[in-house]
Amino acid sequence: MRTKSSGMRFAWQHAWPFSVTCFMLFVLFYRVEVCHGQDDYGDPVPAAPPPEQDNCNGIFLSYTFISRKKEFPHLKNASAQAWAFKSIATILNAGEEELQAWKMFIGFQHKEILVSASGAVLVDSSDFPAAVGNGTYLAGYPMADLKTSIETAGDLDQIQVKVDIIGTQFGVKPPGVPMPKTIKLENDGYKCPAPRRRGPSSMLVCCTKDPKYKAKKLKKTKFLPRQDGDLSLTYDVLQAYPSNYLAQVTIDNNHPLGRLDHWNLTWEWMRGEFISTMRGAYTHKKDGTGCIYGPAGVYYSDLDFSQVMNCDKKPVMTDLPPYLANDTKVGKLPYCCRNGTILPKVMDENKARSIFQLEVYKLPPDLNRTALYPPQKWSIVGVVNPHYKCGPPIRVDPTEFPDPSGIQATITAIASWQVVCNITRPKVKQARCCVSFSAYYSASVIPCNTCACGCMESDTCNQNARAMLLPAEALLVPFANRTEKAKAWAKIKHYPIPNPLPCPDNCGVSINWNIDTDYRSGWTARVTLFNWDDTPFEDWYTAIQMKKAFPGFEKVYSFNGTSLPDINNTIFFQGLKGLNFLMGETNGTKMNEPRVPGKQQSVISFSKKHTPGIDIQRGDGFPSRVLFNGEECALPLEFPRPGNAGHQSRVHFLAVIFITVTTFLLMTDRFHI
Ligand SMILES: *[C@@H]1O[C@H](CO)[C@@H](O)[C@H](O)[C@H]1NC(C)=O
Ligand SMILES: *[C@@H]1O[C@H](CO)[C@@H](O)[C@H](O)[C@H]1NC(C)=O
Ligand SMILES: *[C@@H]1O[C@H](CO)[C@@H](O)[C@H](O)[C@H]1NC(C)=O
Ligand SMILES: *[C@@H]1O[C@H](CO)[C@@H](O)[C@H](O)[C@H]1NC(C)=O
Ligand SMILES: *[C@@H]1O[C@H](CO)[C@@H](O)[C@H](O)[C@H]1NC(C)=O
Ligand SMILES: *[C@@H]1O[C@H](CO)[C@@H](O)[C@H](O)[C@H]1NC(C)=O
Ligand SMILES: *[C@@H]1O[C@H](CO)[C@@H](O)[C@H](O)[C@H]1NC(C)=O
Ligand SMILES: *[C@@H]1O[C@H](CO)[C@@H](O)[C@H](O)[C@H]1NC(C)=O
Ligand SMILES: *[C@@H]1O[C@H](CO)[C@@H](O)[C@H](O)[C@H]1NC(C)=O
Ligand SMILES: *[C@@H]1O[C@H](CO)[C@@H](O)[C@H](O)[C@H]1NC(C)=O
Ligand SMILES: *[C@@H]1O[C@H](CO)[C@@H](O)[C@H](O)[C@H]1NC(C)=O
Repeated sequence: MRTKSSGMRFAWQHAWPFSVTCFMLFVLFYRVEVCHGQDDYGDPVPAAPPPEQDNCNGIFLSYTFISRKKEFPHLKNASAQAWAFKSIATILNAGEEELQAWKMFIGFQHKEILVSASGAVLVDSSDFPAAVGNGTYLAGYPMADLKTSIETAGDLDQIQVKVDIIGTQFGVKPPGVPMPKTIKLENDGYKCPAPRRRGPSSMLVCCTKDPKYKAKKLKKTKFLPRQDGDLSLTYDVLQAYPSNYLAQVTIDNNHPLGRLDHWNLTWEWMRGEFISTMRGAYTHKKDGTGCIYGPAGVYYSDLDFSQVMNCDKKPVMTDLPPYLANDTKVGKLPYCCRNGTILPKVMDENKARSIFQLEVYKLPPDLNRTALYPPQKWSIVGVVNPHYKCGPPIRVDPTEFPDPSGIQATITAIASWQVVCNITRPKVKQARCCVSFSAYYSASVIPCNTCACGCMESDTCNQNARAMLLPAEALLVPFANRTEKAKAWAKIKHYPIPNPLPCPDNCGVSINWNIDTDYRSGWTARVTLFNWDDTPFEDWYTAIQMKKAFPGFEKVYSFNGTSLPDINNTIFFQGLKGLNFLMGETNGTKMNEPRVPGKQQSVISFSKKHTPGIDIQRGDGFPSRVLFNGEECALPLEFPRPGNAGHQSRVHFLAVIFITVTTFLLMTDRFHI
C-alpha cells in the first residue's frame, strides 16, 4: 500500500499543478468534516491515507471518528445524553520488522461503553459491552501479528488491521467531536510521540523503535518471549489432525503468595469448536445438545454427541478430585487431580502447577492441520483466593517437554500460546476475608468493617454505619449472636447505637490481631483465624505485612512461620504438620448455643532490638496488609485506642511464655478430640 499510495501521489504531482492538488485535498477534508457531528450514520468516507502515513517508518496508528446518533432516552441535560458512535482505529506496520502481538491503547474519556470492536479483543479479556471510560488496551484477534511490507510485497491485509469500533458515549453535543485523549502503541521497545490531530475527527501517531530499549536477549525466539506474571497458563497443541487436535493446558503459579482452590477456568471458543474429551479435568456441564442444534451437528452428522464433553461457547472447567488420579481414562497425568488446589511455591513447589488435556473438534473453514486458533477471553477463579485478571493468549515458541520414556530427548509442542494473569486488589466491600484489631490496653475490639465482604442491596441493616465496638468475647460467636452483646457493651461504654444497626461483615474468614504484651525489649501479638463457613480449609496460610515491626520478628509458636523480606516485609504462616486444617463452623455442643467457628491461633513474638522507636500503641504493632490463602483481607479503619482499658498492663517476658504455653495447650486440646 505504501508503494501504491506514493505512486499515486507521484502521478498527481505530475498530472496537475500544485494548486489543483491542494484544492482537491481541501474538498476531501471539507467533506470529512461536514460528515461529523451529524445525527445520522453516514457511510464511512474512504479517506486517502494521510501524508503522515507515508512519512512513517515505524508503526502507524490512527483513530477516526465516523458518526454518531442520539440514543434513547433523549435528555435535556446535554452532558448526560447518550450517543451511539462509530469509529475506526487502524494499526499499520510501516517499519522493517514484524510486530508481534500488537497492543494499542485508546485513551477514551467520555464514559465510552464499547459494544463491538472487530479485528481486536480487549486485553483484559473483558466481554462486550465494556466500560472503557478510562481508556482501554486492544490486542489483535484473529490477526495478532503485523508482517512487514517487505516480506508480503506490500499486502495491506497482512500488514494492517482496521478495528471497527461501535459503542456508546456520553455528553459532547455536536458540533463537538468525542475524540479520545490519546492513542499509542504499548509494545515493548517502541516509543510514541504525542498523537497529532488531523481535522476535528482524526488522530494519528507514528511510533518508532526506541533505540535505547535493550531487549533481554536470552535466546533467539521465533515468536514472542514468555511473559512474567502472577499466574501463567500455557495452551500447547500436542497432536493435530485436520478436524481436531489435542491441547494441554498448564497452569503455573508464579506469585509467592498466590493460590487457587477448586479453580474454575473458563474461556470462549471463537470459531465454533467444542471439547469432545478431557483428561485431568472436567466441565461442570456435560452436554452435547448445544452441538446437535448448531453448525457442529450439521458438519459432524455421524458423531454421537451424547459422548461429547461440552459444547458451550464458554465452557467452565474444573480439576478432577484426587481419587481419579490413577483412572486410566480421565487421570494418569502428572500435576492433575488435586481438587483444584494450586499452592504457592513457598509451601510446595510440586503443587504450584496444574495440568489437563482436552481434545478439540474444529469446524470449517479451519479443517486443516495447521489452522490452529486458541480460545480467547480466559478467566480463572477460586474460592477464597486472589482475583486474577488475564490477558489475551500470545503465541510463544513451542514448549519443550522431556520425553516420557526417560531417554534424553525432548518433545516439542506443535504450537503454544501463553496467557498471563495478574492479581488485582479486591475492591472495597468485595473482599473475602477481614481483620479485627484488639489490644491489651483497650477493652473494646475494633471489629471487621461493615459489609467488608459485600452486602445485598435488599439488606435492611445499615450498610454505611461503622461497625459497633465489641467486648472481646463477642468475637467468638457468629455475627447474629453478637447483637445483644454489642448493644449491652455500647450502653456500658456510652457509645452511640446506630438505628438501623450496622450490617455484618459477611466474610467467610476473619482474622483477629491482638496485641498481647508490650515490654521494654519486645512485644507479642496473638493472631487468631476464624472460619465461619461449613467447608474446612486444607493447607491454609496467611501472610502478614508489617511496615516498621518486620525486622523485629522473632518467632511464631504454634504455626510454621517463614519470614519473606523480599516480598514487602511479609511474614508467612502455615499450619504445622497435622494442624494444616482450618476446620469449618460447627454446631454448638448444647442445644441453642451459638455455632462455633473453626479456629487456629498462635502467639508471635517480636524484639525491639532492630526496631528502635517503635510505637506499638500508635499502630506500629498492627499489620499493614493481611492475606489469607492469597486473598487480601479488609483491614479495620482505626487502631484500638489506649484509655478505656480494662487493665493497663506492661507484662514481663515470663508472662509471654505463660500465654504461649496456654495457647499451645488450648490448640492441642482442640485438635486431639
Ligand atoms: C447533567 O448530567 C451530569 C452527568 O450525568 C450531571 O453531573 C449534572 O449534574 C446534570 N446537570 C443537571 C442540570 O441536571
Ligand atoms: C475510571 O477511574 C476512576 C478513578 O480511578 C474510577 O473511579 C472509575 O470507576 C473508572 N471508570 C471506569 C469505567 O473504569
Ligand atoms: C496412584 O498411583 C500412585 C503410584 O502407583 C500411588 O502412589 C497413589 O497413591 C495412587 N493414587 C490413588 C488415588 O490411588
Ligand atoms: C474435593 O472437593 C470436594 C468438594 O468440591 C470435597 O467434597 C472433597 O472432600 C474434596 N476432596 C479432597 C480430598 O480434598
Ligand atoms: C515449615 O515450612 C517450610 C516451608 O514450607 C518447610 O520446609 C518446613 O519443613 C516446615 N517446618 C515444619 C516444622 O513444619
Ligand atoms: C492448510 O493451510 C496451509 C497454510 O495455511 C495451506 O498452505 C494448505 O494449502 C492448507 N491445506 C488445505 C488442505 O487446505
Ligand atoms: C465453579 O463452577 C461451579 C459450577 O458452575 C460452581 O458451582 C462453583 O461454585 C464454581 N466455583 C468457584 C470457585 O467459583
Ligand atoms: C502482569 O504483570 C507483568 C509484570 O509483573 C506485566 O509484564 C504484564 O503485562 C501483566 N499482564 C497483564 C495481563 O496485566
Ligand atoms: C444465635 O443466632 C442464631 C441465628 O440468629 C439463633 O438461632 C440462636 O438462637 C442464637 N443463639 C444465641 C445463644 O443467642
Ligand atoms: C509490594 O508493594 C508494592 C507497592 O505497595 C506493590 O506494587 C507490589 O505489588 C508488592 N509486592 C508484592 C509481592 O506484594
Ligand atoms: C446443626 O444444627 C442444625 C439446626 O440447629 C441442624 O439442622 C443440623 O443438622 C446440625 N448439624 C449437625 C452436624 O449436628
